[in-house]
Amino acid sequence: MNTHPILIIGKNGKTGTRVNQRLQALGYLTRPVSRSSATPFDWENPATWRKALTGCTAAYVTYQPDLAVPRAEATINAFTQLAKEVGLAHVTLLSGRGEDGAQRAENVLKKSGLTWNIVRASWFSQNFSESFMLEGILNGELALPADDTLEPFVDADDIADVAVAALTKPALHNKLFEVSGPRALTFAECISEISKATGRAIKYTQVPIDTYIAALREQGAPEDLQWLLRELFTVVFDGRNSQVANGVEEALGRPATDFSSYVQKAVASGVWYAAQQEPA
Ligand SMILES: NC(=O)c1ccc[n+]([C@@H]2O[C@H](COP(=O)([O-])OP(=O)(O)OC[C@H]3O[C@@H](n4cnc5c(N)ncnc54)[C@H](OP(=O)(O)O)[C@@H]3O)[C@@H](O)[C@H]2O)c1
Repeated sequence: MNTHPILIIGKNGKTGTRVNQRLQALGYLTRPVSRSSATPFDWENPATWRKALTGCTAAYVTYQPDLAVPRAEATINAFTQLAKEVGLAHVTLLSGRGEDGAQRAENVLKKSGLTWNIVRASWFSQNFSESFMLEGILNGELALPADDTLEPFVDADDIADVAVAALTKPALHNKLFEVSGPRALTFAECISEISKATGRAIKYTQVPIDTYIAALREQGAPEDLQWLLRELFTVVFDGRNSQVANGVEEALGRPATDFSSYVQKAVASGVWYAAQQEPA
């Protein structure tokens, strides 16, 4: 077993947390970092990178805010150059399906001279329970600029399992795993499943993209978040990712987790009940 820690960038993130837990359970040393770690790592401040990377030989990399943003390609290029310089040998990069910017960043990694894996993911199921959609669900209405486009939402537990396999099994190196759930659903169908499983009245409402972005602006969301959400809900969410992908099965030899199993786990965690709504 490797005595050098595996670097995890995005330690509190939806996938970084899970990758860290799994690696530690398997006995690997890890170095989970983000802006708030004792040794900080900030994508916006390259001066923080060297200290965070030094001594590690492999890394699980999540890029914030999203590989779709135009500056991601240059940032990943600078990151991979430094990674080689300080002796990292392998990077497993979390990427997104159907994002041109993300695919440019993937190409930088593939050509970097490091060994690599790319986990190119569908929209996460956990966006409903651990991210920006949670508030709407707790309030009884999720309003988004998405029509009846189908998306095969992927469970972050599956993403973490694939990432850990990629980090720990050299036979899987230099492969791209395109990961999705086994069933494509609309947002309205997801909310209907969540509503039934929680026993709570929750509705889905489609709003025009300009109304959605204007509301974000009024709430003080930064310009680049506004740009990103417009890009995600228009360009990326145009149906190009509706097909199921088989990366989970390819990497792990088992089927991907269905959205209904994710919903059961999230119901059991209590995340979709405000304190007064928790069932007796
Ligand atoms: N959500 C989806 O549906 C989806 C789908 C496909 C691909 N992706 C990709 O997933 C990646 C995000 O991964 P994730 O969802 O596992 O992470 P996440 O949940 O978005 O990660 C959040 C963590 O990132 C850290 N962070 C924020 N800004 C940072 C910065 N400038 N430098 C370093 N750390 C920073 C924060 O910790 P601190 O506050 O401590 O810094 C925060 O706890 C993105 O690149 C996105 O493109 C997401």
